[in-house]
Amino acid sequence: MGKIILVKNLSLQLGDRYVLQDINFEVEKGSSTVIIGPSGSGKTVLIKTIVGIFKPLKGDIFIFGQNIKKLNEDGFKKIRERIGMVFQNSALFDSLTVWENVGFYYLYHTKKNKEEIKKMAIEILKKLGLDEKVADMMPEELSGGMKKRVSIARALISKPEIIFYDEPTTGIDPITSENLTDLIKKIHIDFNTTDITVTHDVKLANKIGERLILIDNGKIIEAGTYYELKEKSNHPLIRSYVEGGEK
Ligand SMILES: Nc1ncnc2c1ncn2[C@@H]1O[C@H](COP(=O)(O)OP(=O)(O)OP(=O)(O)O)[C@@H](O)[C@H]1O
Ligand SMILES: [Mg+2]
Repeated sequence: MGKIILVKNLSLQLGDRYVLQDINFEVEKGSSTVIIGPSGSGKTVLIKTIVGIFKPLKGDIFIFGQNIKKLNEDGFKKIRERIGMVFQNSALFDSLTVWENVGFYYLYHTKKNKEEIKKMAIEILKKLGLDEKVADMMPEELSGGMKKRVSIARALISKPEIIFYDEPTTGIDPITSENLTDLIKKIHIDFNTTDITVTHDVKLANKIGERLILIDNGKIIEAGTYYELKEKSNHPLIRSYVEGGEK
């Protein structure tokens, strides 16, 4: 079928607020989807719900063809292992070294030995353009761009088939953002990943977004391929994205 993710009639309540309302979309295997929308519109909550951090009030989420609410803990863990998540603001653990952050899942959730995990972490850090020396550094010693690379390495270490990036270039200078954009594109090709990226960065969206989803106030307002929306959307935010750079 080619649909690696299918979201059907998804609604989510947090506290007394409906944060997501009747969300429907699908993601093709190997594609790159960009989610845009104003601050507070529900973008982060949406991707966190897909990876099981929040429990939906209504609706279904199918990943790799399986309805995640029908899976037991073990079944869900198997799915979750095939998904990488790059959290907004990098979300590194300050008290752990870079390699411990990158190898976090293996250190705390498997019985792999430390040396082996460190080797895996260094290998992935190098692939992302970071020197071996960075492995023993603490997060506070890193620049913003390096932190983003480390958080990408943490997501990539398990060779995920799907990667969620939440604002991967936010708060970073333009040149570093451009390098990160190229890196995300390279990972998409080299690792053959399916990408879902939340971003306010028009240049990043232009470079990597094959499909765009616009969310406002917990609802999908518009969705379509980059070219479809470029052709027919009148929404100011969509216009700024499709006109904001060269495809
Ligand atoms: N853990 C939580 N508990 C209660 N409400 C939450 C929680 N996390 C987010 N929200 C609320 O859900 C709504 C959507 O938040 P979300 O973080 O998804 O926005 P966003 O679109 O990612 O914004 P930004 O672009 O600023 O990152 C907001 O009103 C927010 O206050
Ligand atoms: Mg967010």
